[in-house]
Amino acid sequence: MKKKLLSVILSATMVAALVTGCGGGGSDTQTSAPAADNTTTDAPAADTTSAPAADTTTDAPAADNAGSGDLIKVGFAQVGHESDWRAANTQNYQDAFSEANGYELSFVDADNDNAVQLEAVRGFIQQEVDYICIAPIETAGWDTVLQEAQDAGIPVLIVDRSVDADASLYETQIGCDMVLEGETAGNWLAEYLDGADAKILVIEGSVGASATLGRTEGFNNIASAHSEWEILDSQSGDFTQAGGQEVMESFIKSYSDFNVVVCQNDNEAYGAMDAMDAAGITYGVDGDVIIISFDATHDGLQYTLDGKINCNVECNPLQAEFAAEVIQKLEAGSAIDAVTVVKDEAFVAPGIDSQYAVTMSQEVLDGRAY
Ligand code: AHR
Repeated sequence: MKKKLLSVILSATMVAALVTGCGGGGSDTQTSAPAADNTTTDAPAADTTSAPAADTTTDAPAADNAGSGDLIKVGFAQVGHESDWRAANTQNYQDAFSEANGYELSFVDADNDNAVQLEAVRGFIQQEVDYICIAPIETAGWDTVLQEAQDAGIPVLIVDRSVDADASLYETQIGCDMVLEGETAGNWLAEYLDGADAKILVIEGSVGASATLGRTEGFNNIASAHSEWEILDSQSGDFTQAGGQEVMESFIKSYSDFNVVVCQNDNEAYGAMDAMDAAGITYGVDGDVIIISFDATHDGLQYTLDGKINCNVECNPLQAEFAAEVIQKLEAGSAIDAVTVVKDEAFVAPGIDSQYAVTMSQEVLDGRAY
């Protein structure tokens, strides 16, 4: 990691605030973004053993299960620990699903290994947990194990990323809109370049992950409308700093003429910057190469404030409170939303004005919770 992530322990008050206001960035991340419109309706909720009865969605969601007696057992099959974003997301789950909040959390770090993640889910089924949360490494390959969970009567929440599986096999999907993130990056670039040529190199995330697929699709949606843009190459950096550096070093050997590098997360951007530093290539607002990044973690936004990253599109890792809200509703027999879209913002370096992004300031950075 280029810099050590600042871990912030969310207080119970912040957790409660996030249930109603998660997703905004900057100094008001915790409290200002409305949650009222954070759902879409494109996938019906599964009708499983604990499916909701009466629609009591007007009830205020319980932030936790504290004081109600038995702990609710939750298994969480996490992607791994590949990025600062992932560390913040894991911390968020461990805080929200604490014993003090009425949960017993079984946590498995799958280390970006699909087989390990599938076995983790099967382990949770054997343990007879009450709920399973899965942050899927890849979109594909989930039908069989999801069917096994459903047969065992255990509701599954798909979190962070999405799966390419029958929606009747899980209760809900909670996460950011990765296609929109990619489109925001593309729209910002078009605005910034204002018709100028672009020779673009893309460092993608992990192969087969919905975060990668979505951001690539979204960016390409905008790029396809710009004949003055050329995407020279697009390779996976696996969402890691080492991967970003390795891919950038290889790009530098292959391409002498480029002016935009799109990194699909902050850690890849740190690696790409290291590679460009070593090669004497300048970047950022005062350099020759425009850098776009995703995640907008604290360190990523520090680089944006410093003018090294031109534009940083947020992917909000504080999502556990939405999962807790769903579980509390299921416990109460209340209706749940099939999809919860966690809201994102984008940020640009000082001196850049954009209709798509917030201009970075020290105040915005100081308000960052992850
Ligand atoms: O799925 C979210 C993505 O996964 C984040 O952008 C990245 O940092 C993480 O590894």
